[in-house]
Amino acid sequence: MVECLLNKAMTPLEKTKTIRAKKGQQPISALTAYDYPTARLLDEAGTDILLVGDSLGMVVLGYPDTTHVTLEHIIHHSAAVARGAKNALIVSDLPINTYDTPEQALASSRRLIEAGGQAVKLEGGLNQIGKVKAITEAGIPFMGHLGMLPQRVKEEGGYKKKGKSDSEVEALIESALALQEAGAFSIVLESVIPEASRQLTAALDIPTIGIGCGEKTCDGEIAVITDVIGSYPWFVPPFATQRANVAADITKAVKGYLDSL
Ligand code: KIV
Repeated sequence: MVECLLNKAMTPLEKTKTIRAKKGQQPISALTAYDYPTARLLDEAGTDILLVGDSLGMVVLGYPDTTHVTLEHIIHHSAAVARGAKNALIVSDLPINTYDTPEQALASSRRLIEAGGQAVKLEGGLNQIGKVKAITEAGIPFMGHLGMLPQRVKEEGGYKKKGKSDSEVEALIESALALQEAGAFSIVLESVIPEASRQLTAALDIPTIGIGCGEKTCDGEIAVITDVIGSYPWFVPPFATQRANVAADITKAVKGYLDSL
């Protein structure tokens, strides 16, 4: 059982400090959330971090990938999540093309914070450090994202595992250390092979939060909520553990309703 040590009296900065202090002590729990009722349920269940991820492009808005998500989408959903969550730290994703310069990264981050986000996340490492510093120097808590970067799926030609060669691992570690130095309070690792995830986790003072990186290779785990509850049956990543079948329950309930008319 993972214990949530956050509470609503804490400032966002205090929440990030509490999350950082869990490294090496207790696993950090994180889930995506996009709406009020789900955010409220996940918060009441004791989740540390709720990510208003740009995965909402696929699992909520029906786009083929995250490159269609706009700042307005994340603003709208961050506000809904903020109405539902009290204790968890709310992290809002910066969508593609909303952080092309340090000035734009800061302006977009400020809008997400005004909407109810308490921290922001963007994809990339060494190439993004100027933008990350603009965000952290303005006092906005920042979460990094390394490994497979979904906003680059078109350039990469698919979702590929990262950290397979020594040179890739070295580059990942260099980026992770640069993000830490720039003030990130944690880093999401996506689809990094287990051995490389362990090396990154050991190299950093800040927590790593893994998705598709193997079991217990990072300081915490993040999952897309629809994968956990089984409400998006049309695509389930191979690494996901489905713990409910909400799609089947909805179909059954609606058929029962239709039959009753
Ligand atoms: O958008 C998202 O859901 C994410 C997670 C995969 C980490 O960035």
